[in-house]
Amino acid sequence: SKTLKFAVLAGDYIGPEVMRSALRVLEKVAAQDGLTLDYAEHAVGGSAIDAHGSALPASTLAACEAADAILFGSVGGPKWETLPPKEQPERAALLPLRKHFTLFANIRPGLLYPELREASPLKNERIPDGIDIVCIRELTGGIYFGSPKRTTALEGGADVEAIDTMVYRKSEIERIAAVAITAARSRKKRLCSVDKANVLETSVLWRKTVSDYVAAHAPDITLSHMYVDNAAMQLAREPNQFDVFVTENMFGDILSDEMAVICGSLGMLSSASLGARQNSLGNPFGLYEPAGGSAPDLAGQGLANPCAQILSAALMLRYSFGLEASAARIERAVRHVVTCGTRTGDIAFGGPAVSTEEMTEAILATLG
Ligand code: NAD
Ligand code: IPM
Ligand code: MN
Repeated sequence: SKTLKFAVLAGDYIGPEVMRSALRVLEKVAAQDGLTLDYAEHAVGGSAIDAHGSALPASTLAACEAADAILFGSVGGPKWETLPPKEQPERAALLPLRKHFTLFANIRPGLLYPELREASPLKNERIPDGIDIVCIRELTGGIYFGSPKRTTALEGGADVEAIDTMVYRKSEIERIAAVAITAARSRKKRLCSVDKANVLETSVLWRKTVSDYVAAHAPDITLSHMYVDNAAMQLAREPNQFDVFVTENMFGDILSDEMAVICGSLGMLSSASLGARQNSLGNPFGLYEPAGGSAPDLAGQGLANPCAQILSAALMLRYSFGLEASAARIERAVRHVVTCGTRTGDIAFGGPAVSTEEMTEAILATLG
């Protein structure tokens, strides 16, 4: 039987709660499909700082190196916000992991089932068939990683200056354009590139590079360009005008949270982060994580929606293990359960809400 070797990094606050749900779903699917799961949990984030003095212990990184994929929860929260900024879990664990494995392509599917329309803040008549779009976010470049990046006291000590640097290379833009083209080809062949080319040099290069790349390699794709401020507005006005949109790191971070809420909840938004590296099976190595965070406001109360984590596990089966049928079965089970009304508070819109555990049980039962 096929062996699935992945590292489990649950992290902080709701991370371990929703990870437990995803692992139960994976165990069930593995039993049904004759798959062997080979995974272990490794410390990451604030809980790793507390236990080992490091947000990304060497043993955790080594386990990720040895695996074919990483299933990630979420890191960070108020408990570690008083640490020096560079030592906080987000900057000391998650960003280094993405960089270490060159996970430059973050794929976030913005899917709202028509039956869940009421969970969207958009007027339902605007989205009669729900929403089905994809955000492709560049993940290892831009203002997150450029140098210089520092805070300095100015001469005389009266003032302080902080600098972040937004840098993009043509090669970095071309490789994310290639991923976006592949995504668009599997859908409606429409790609919108989002930038701020009226102000930023990086965006001027972005727009030209994407245009040239699509013209040279993907004449079958209909490419459009949009400024990011307009894109934020258009997303709220008429989300289905997009099919696939591609954008730089920080714009993608912001637009994907907006996309999540118009699709019902951050608790439903999964993601796959892929790079050039192949795993031992010849499939893309990837890190799979909910787009949302550690939700400290929900932690420890059984209130978190486990779907984003479960759907991220499904993406892991699809991309890193080539198990399309198993992935699709998980996605169908999640859809069935939420459309039949078994919903955590974030998508219950006033109706009865179930716990993380009850939602998980319903998904397991639907899997049969
Ligand atoms: P958040 O995404 O944790 O929460 C924002 C809102 O969405 C909250 O109201 C929360 O309750 C809700 N939400 C998020 N996930 C949910 C789920 N599964 N079910 C139901 N509701 C959900 O963002 P935040 O509050 O800005 O950040 C909290 C911490 O998480 C911060 O330390 C932040 O840096 C970190 N964070 C980590 C990741 C990651 O590890 N990938 C991602 C984003 C934020
Ligand atoms: C995300 C998160 C991260 C990001 C943070 C926690 C570093 O918000 O994955 O969207 O900004 O990339
Ligand atoms: Mn984010």
